[in-house]
Amino acid sequence: MSEKQQVAMAVSAALPDLSLTEIENKIERPKDSSNGDFAFPTFFLAKKLHKAPQMIASELAEKISDEGFDKVVVAGPYINFFLNKGQVGAEIIKAILADPANYGKKDLGHEANVVIDYSSPNIAKPMGMGHLRSTMIGEAIARILEKENYHLIRVDYLGDWGTQFGKLMAAYEMWGNDAEIEKDPINTLLKYYVRINTEADEHPEYTDAGRAWFAKLEHGDKEAWRLWHWFRKISLERFQKVYDMLDVHFDSFNGEAFSARHMDLPIQLLKDKHLLKESRGAQIVDLDAYNLTPPLIIKSNGTTTYITRDLATALFRKRMYGHAKSLYVVGAEQENYYKQLKAVLKEMGFTWWDQLQHISFGLMRLNGKKMSTRKGNVVSLEDVLNDSIKLARQQIAEKNPDLANADEVAKQVGVGAVIFHDLKNYRRNAVNFKLEDVVRFEGETGPYVQYAHARAESILRKGGIDDFSNVDLTEVGSEAWDILSFLGQYANAVERAAVNYDPSIVAKYALELAKKFNQYYAHNRILQDDSGQAGRLALVKAVSLILKDALAMLDIKAPDEM
Ligand code: ARG
Repeated sequence: MSEKQQVAMAVSAALPDLSLTEIENKIERPKDSSNGDFAFPTFFLAKKLHKAPQMIASELAEKISDEGFDKVVVAGPYINFFLNKGQVGAEIIKAILADPANYGKKDLGHEANVVIDYSSPNIAKPMGMGHLRSTMIGEAIARILEKENYHLIRVDYLGDWGTQFGKLMAAYEMWGNDAEIEKDPINTLLKYYVRINTEADEHPEYTDAGRAWFAKLEHGDKEAWRLWHWFRKISLERFQKVYDMLDVHFDSFNGEAFSARHMDLPIQLLKDKHLLKESRGAQIVDLDAYNLTPPLIIKSNGTTTYITRDLATALFRKRMYGHAKSLYVVGAEQENYYKQLKAVLKEMGFTWWDQLQHISFGLMRLNGKKMSTRKGNVVSLEDVLNDSIKLARQQIAEKNPDLANADEVAKQVGVGAVIFHDLKNYRRNAVNFKLEDVVRFEGETGPYVQYAHARAESILRKGGIDDFSNVDLTEVGSEAWDILSFLGQYANAVERAAVNYDPSIVAKYALELAKKFNQYYAHNRILQDDSGQAGRLALVKAVSLILKDALAMLDIKAPDEM
């Protein structure tokens, strides 16, 4: 129970007609703490009770017990509550130490299934910054929802189907060099693809060859399938390197090719409902009623499109996973597309159309010299992460030259820094990426939070107490109230992050907790050998556990030393 709920409970004894939530929504936090920790205003009752608010306040206060509070006092039209900070604080620490993994959990999910489609890069192309954002935002949202007891199904919907693969095969037939491909698969395949596209203007036969190859692929030609499998395999191996660095693991890699094999059902349903309309030889769905442009379902040459594959995907996922929600973590430029997708499903009569949600995000811009776009128009994520790790390694060498497992820690700090930078602002805002700003140990960075955690762990090592069960915590409660009341708000932060699919709420919480802890550290002699030492160490332990838990929800490691 949060402190606010505790106040609501106390008030409800005097106002049995109102629900707890109604009461809770009225409770305020006074700006000036001399007016208490919480206040219950009575203005809204005046009309109903035909009495002056001042009068209501004093009548209600008579019926409210001050048990669990320092005091409960009437101040004009308000009833002010002063918490028993020692006791409340002690309970917060106790709850964290007893079960850190479940602290902050409200069980919003009740184990309901949530499908999350994220990362989803296109094969035979480098994974770009957009996919990096999708991977990190998606993973963090998955972890936040897991904390709230949802059951997550992580899907990497690979872009592994479409006419472009016919072109790629035609290019391979002309210029393919297996050794070159094995050495640097993605860049080499991209090179062939770019070349056939640029030269196709002068050589219209290339386009025909591409079409012919795609037709072969669609009809199950052996060589076409061999190539497709090979391109997919070597692409996925490269992607997997990045996923390993980020500690991201998918339950399914069923992508567009998989859905291309399940196309009959959505097309039949669209026909049955008379939703397909002829337009210049192609089949579309009219979405005028939604103010949306009509999506193309079947092209004039009979082939299906990206949205048809996504319709098949949506039907498959609903049937396979029985989801309560189905999330698509994709850039803001596809907003209109997801509106179309949902509108078509609604037209098809699926009541669950609004379980689909587009989790959109803004662009990532690059400033740093080394990370300006190279080769084509895409930046290699692997390079970004490796540069970040290198920089973290240098900083560690300066700050802590004796660190035992410095290389491993540098990985955790370098990768964590990139992730934190991506997640710390609301996802729909654009992000500016400059390596030097991202890997700093001061300021609003991942390493700053990790460092606060490592500092806490170092204090705990020096303190040498593992068991806090018999420690009197009431004294810490009143001394470190600022940190403790903030720890008391953790569950609310996690809840808001889950409801809004917004990892930045967790990132900002972690930053703020790190800041508050550093202030506490600067103003208190934590290890001073007096009667309060054990209590202070218990507080440090609680802070360390929550910093680690918050970072873990963002998919960031918390090294014990750095
Ligand atoms: N491959 C797509 C891209 O790179 C993203 C796929 C998103 N998921 C989906 N079901 N359409 O833009």
